[in-house]
Amino acid sequence: MKKLVVLTGSGISAESGLKTFREMGGLWEEYDVMEVASPEAWEANMELVLRFYNERRKQLLQAEPNPGHLGLSDLEKHFDVDIITQNVDDLHERAGSTKILHLHGELKKVRSTVDPNLIYELDGWELKAGDKCEKGFQLRPHIVWFGEPVPAIEKAVEIVQQADFFAVIGTSLVVYPAAGLIHYVPSSVPIYVIDPNPVQTPYHKNIEFIQQKAGVGVGLLKEKLLARLNK
Ligand code: APR
Repeated sequence: MKKLVVLTGSGISAESGLKTFREMGGLWEEYDVMEVASPEAWEANMELVLRFYNERRKQLLQAEPNPGHLGLSDLEKHFDVDIITQNVDDLHERAGSTKILHLHGELKKVRSTVDPNLIYELDGWELKAGDKCEKGFQLRPHIVWFGEPVPAIEKAVEIVQQADFFAVIGTSLVVYPAAGLIHYVPSSVPIYVIDPNPVQTPYHKNIEFIQQKAGVGVGLLKEKLLARLNK
């Protein structure tokens, strides 16, 4: 099967009721990113950081995959689909997608503050001060904070270089290194960008914009891809 590689951002989860980051009413309007999503914030005010992610987990437990997520999972009938997501929610998994690489971590996981290899599934939504790893150290959200490296980026580049088709869904493409992945898409490979708002993209001679919300846009993407397959 042809390989479809998809880079997703918070926009694909907007129709599930989860806020995006930089839009009007987005998370970074409500919170100062450096006070809740950086190693410095954790040192300065661990309780505030814990509360921020506990709140987001509570919201995630109320959310369900939407037609955007479900459409990508359905595309596995026709394509070898790899999803590279900046999202920390588990809506792609819950929609039934089978190959998902999280670049920025996962909200439902926590990890040790001394050994990043000690990663645990969190039961429920609440991580508290005093919750410890097996080595007796505080647990932190398993999230890539601003200023921290993105361990999965090399794997992501490898996947992107094998794409026959590439799609970008629901991301403003302003956060690196994720936004830089588009540079690794071979020039002959068609790129589809799904977003209801205009998105600045680096030059690529084969980009098509589907200016729609993901719930509709993924359906249109399927039509376009199947038309190409049957050509
Ligand atoms: N369907 C598709 N796209 C949508 C929808 C929708 N229903 N609603 C909004 N969007 C688009 C917006 O137009 C915008 O381009 O989703 C994008 C969201 O962009 P951002 O808020 O910048 O979020 P994202 O690109 O995911 O942020 C990247 O930044 O804050 C960090 O680590 C965090 O992973 C995150 C990274």
